[in-house]
Amino acid sequence: MSTTTVVSPALSRKKVTTLALRQKKENGEPITMLTAYDYPTALAVDQAGIDSILVGDSLGMVVLGYENTLPVTMDEMLHHCRAVSRGAKAALLVGDMPFMSYQVSVEDAVRNAGRFLQQAGMDAIKLEGGRERAAAIRQITGAGIPVMGHLGLTPQSIHQLGGYRAQGKNALTAKKLLDDALLLQDAGCFSLVLESVPARLAGFISKKLEIPTIGIGAGAGCDGQVLVTHDLLGLFERFTPKFVKKYASLNAEMKRAFGEYLTDVQNHNFPGAEHSVEMPEDEWDAFLKENGHE
Ligand code: KIV
Repeated sequence: MSTTTVVSPALSRKKVTTLALRQKKENGEPITMLTAYDYPTALAVDQAGIDSILVGDSLGMVVLGYENTLPVTMDEMLHHCRAVSRGAKAALLVGDMPFMSYQVSVEDAVRNAGRFLQQAGMDAIKLEGGRERAAAIRQITGAGIPVMGHLGLTPQSIHQLGGYRAQGKNALTAKKLLDDALLLQDAGCFSLVLESVPARLAGFISKKLEIPTIGIGAGAGCDGQVLVTHDLLGLFERFTPKFVKKYASLNAEMKRAFGEYLTDVQNHNFPGAEHSVEMPEDEWDAFLKENGHE
């Protein structure tokens, strides 16, 4: 097999830190974040120059085929985080804490957060929730682990929220979201994801906070944007949230390629001579002679 050396732009890129994200906000430069769950995708996202990679628990839905994110375990998250950390060298790597890994006790939360950095090569963790998470966030950041908060539509609480619905749509819930955002900043978060929040409210919160906000379905007023890569690539077709922009249709492209392969094999068009290994003529003749086919 011939090998080609590809010089990666990521090799010349400096490691992105939590401080660098803060500086981007201060300079008014949009922050970019995408999800990844495996080595090749992490390589591609990193080499494209994206600031940060989230190994999201969306993994459960778009890669593992679960109905929602609730069944995802620590072991599954760590397994995929390790693969991503082997591929991405410059992007800030954020591991998403799965359901029940941080809700039961602050001790559990700190121990599990630590595993993302110690055992899976992550630079930071993300967890969902507002004021009820402040104590855990204080302890995790106190242990030297950067925490990204997540407010608005928090998928681990879908049963409590009554489904995947936008949050903060009236004055009362909007005020609660603002208060929670300020509280999470005060508890030590270096950044906040705002998911499915009215654009005006997300912009307002972003201006009030010193830490950067990363929006998903939260309009252009956030300091950065994140999308689930499988949505952006058109790889996950079960449903597509309104806020997703599809930049490719890879599911259709995969099906086309698989179909062509099927037809080629069925019609004896694959493999061709160019895909096969041959042995020298004299060796073949010797083999035939030895085996009674002169
Ligand atoms: O799990 C995930 O991918 C997320 C993003 C949607 C922010 O939490």
